[in-house]
Amino acid sequence: MNPYVRSLEKLAGKYRSAEAEVVRAFFRKPRAKSDHVNWLKAQAYKEYSAIKPLLGALTRLLPHLDKGVDRHQYEELGKKLAEEMKHARLIMDLLEEIIGRKITPKDLPWLLEDKRLARIRARYSRTYAGLLHGSEAITSRGILRKDEDIERAALTLTEGGGGALYQVCSRLKGTVIERKIASVFQEIYLDEVRHRNAGARELAKYLRTRKEFKRAEEIVQRVLGQRLRMRNEQFGFPLSDRRIQDMQRSFATRRA
Ligand SMILES: [Fe+2]
Ligand SMILES: [Fe+2]
Repeated sequence: MNPYVRSLEKLAGKYRSAEAEVVRAFFRKPRAKSDHVNWLKAQAYKEYSAIKPLLGALTRLLPHLDKGVDRHQYEELGKKLAEEMKHARLIMDLLEEIIGRKITPKDLPWLLEDKRLARIRARYSRTYAGLLHGSEAITSRGILRKDEDIERAALTLTEGGGGALYQVCSRLKGTVIERKIASVFQEIYLDEVRHRNAGARELAKYLRTRKEFKRAEEIVQRVLGQRLRMRNEQFGFPLSDRRIQDMQRSFATRRA
């Protein structure tokens, strides 16, 4: 395996454990129904917001099919649309079951630290930030650019934080609500790990020099660091700011 990719996967693994620590800290205490509703709504927003940009990308790329857009890539985008819609549907169904009434996408909040995450991702690729968050306009010119392969691959590696949230949740077995959460997140977990593995495969194609590696490392570090803050906010700050900062500092690679 490409040693640069191995090193980035190791770095991503540290952040994955840190994200898992946030989620485990939340579930360590008994939680009210309303606590679960809050984090599930924020998660449903994240899944739902991927739908519109993916749909836009599929529409804009169709005229380019087999003329600049590989049909396998196009199929992947289609699959991703189906999967993110499934994730949104699973979580929104669960929310309705918990609160006992209908909800619509309008009831889902976009939290501050997640907005910041979208802005940070957009610094590296506006198109990929847009595809993940629905935060940027998707244009065919943007999608077809060929000068940000490394940035896009690095961002894809950060998608879903390596599945930490989904994995912790899929193992819950305490209360009735926890068991329901577990069955929903088990299903999502497998898809998200696949989304992120696609990033590792892409990175292996593009990372050749130390300079390229350093660029990808900066992106992974910056984005996953912000993901940690996003998760902590989503779960009502179960970890202190200090703990988050300490973790980030310990993961930061020393300047070579
Ligand atoms: Fe998802
Ligand atoms: Fe995903």
